[in-house]
Amino acid sequence: MNIYLLVEHEFSQHPVLWHVFHLIKRFFITNFCVSAGKIPFMRTVFWEDNQLKMIDQRILPGRFEVVSFQDHVSVARAIKDMVVRGAPAIGAAAAFGLALAGYESKAGSSHELLSDLRSASDTLKSARPTAVNLAWAVDRVMWIAEQTRDERGVDDLRQLIVDAAQRIADEDVEINKRMAEYGAALINDGDTVIHHCNTGALATVDWGTALGVIRTAHEQGKKIHVLVDETRPRLQGARLTAWELDQYGIPYEIISDNMAGYFLKAGRAQKVLFGADRVAANGDVANKIGTYMLSLAAHDNGVPAYAVVPTSTVDLSLEHGDLIPIEERDPQEVLGIQFQGEQVAPIEAEARNIAFDVTPNRLISGIVTENGVVHPPFETNLKKVVLGE
Ligand code: MRU
Repeated sequence: MNIYLLVEHEFSQHPVLWHVFHLIKRFFITNFCVSAGKIPFMRTVFWEDNQLKMIDQRILPGRFEVVSFQDHVSVARAIKDMVVRGAPAIGAAAAFGLALAGYESKAGSSHELLSDLRSASDTLKSARPTAVNLAWAVDRVMWIAEQTRDERGVDDLRQLIVDAAQRIADEDVEINKRMAEYGAALINDGDTVIHHCNTGALATVDWGTALGVIRTAHEQGKKIHVLVDETRPRLQGARLTAWELDQYGIPYEIISDNMAGYFLKAGRAQKVLFGADRVAANGDVANKIGTYMLSLAAHDNGVPAYAVVPTSTVDLSLEHGDLIPIEERDPQEVLGIQFQGEQVAPIEAEARNIAFDVTPNRLISGIVTENGVVHPPFETNLKKVVLGE
């Protein structure tokens, strides 16, 4: 995707070429890449023709579709329904959702526009509770709007919000690549890595966090094998991570979540990598359900477990992980799982669907950020790296 970003940047300087470039891109993707099961370049979340466009992650890998959004309420719903998912991706989507709210507003003054934006930001922030990037991105755009409202007319302010959201999206890609360089240095040639959930280009604007590390190590020529756990109940690993690894030509095998302990105990995995939705000030990591059990098994077998997170995922306002709000989703996501075409659970069964768990800092070997790798004690070291001290 790097060549694409370079070309995109060059073309973005010339409006007519930019338009032609996007027409060609669309034609190429629909006619060649999708039918071949390959998507060589595309951001997960992007702004085009004053609309927010996102890859629909609910239907991958069976179908590849880009859906368009014209209003912030639909964006909030898409975040909740997981059309878009992954902490950095939902942050960028929400920022663009705010840009849409700017265009939806009939405000005649920047003060009225700000008031509409405040209400839209509440709607967007309430879509999912655990990933702090969501509130972080919305608050960042709102802060910029609040700072400049007196100097700007309504149209100017609308454009300012689009630009702020675009900056968040562009920075995400750049940050991921920086993290990937730091993280790749931890990976040895010949390593087998257990990876949890989906942390790739799909979970971010592009490139990815933990999967971004794997991609960069692969591009550096290291031979890596990935054990992709399924990540029940939404199967982000089996559906999305496996699909992404196919695109990048990185060898992998899917394992069910409960096989990880076997491979770790047998000495057949040398690293465990995952992302995070929120990291507390002491280095406790909230991530996709199952991360805690995976980290316990890694720790018990002396296998290092690394969280790969942009500093925007660190919430220094929370002293420890028990304070992180944990999402519980519709039990139907658990009950609806099928085996050989039949629902597994009895029709009357009830279920719990806790979407995230917290891994205590003692089980984490290092936290990879865009400012470098943080090692224990996280209570002191994490803050320094996040604040760039
Ligand atoms: O429920 P999801 O699919 O949004 O959960 C995603 C994860 O848990 C990821 O590991 C996390 O967002 C970090 S990936 C960049």
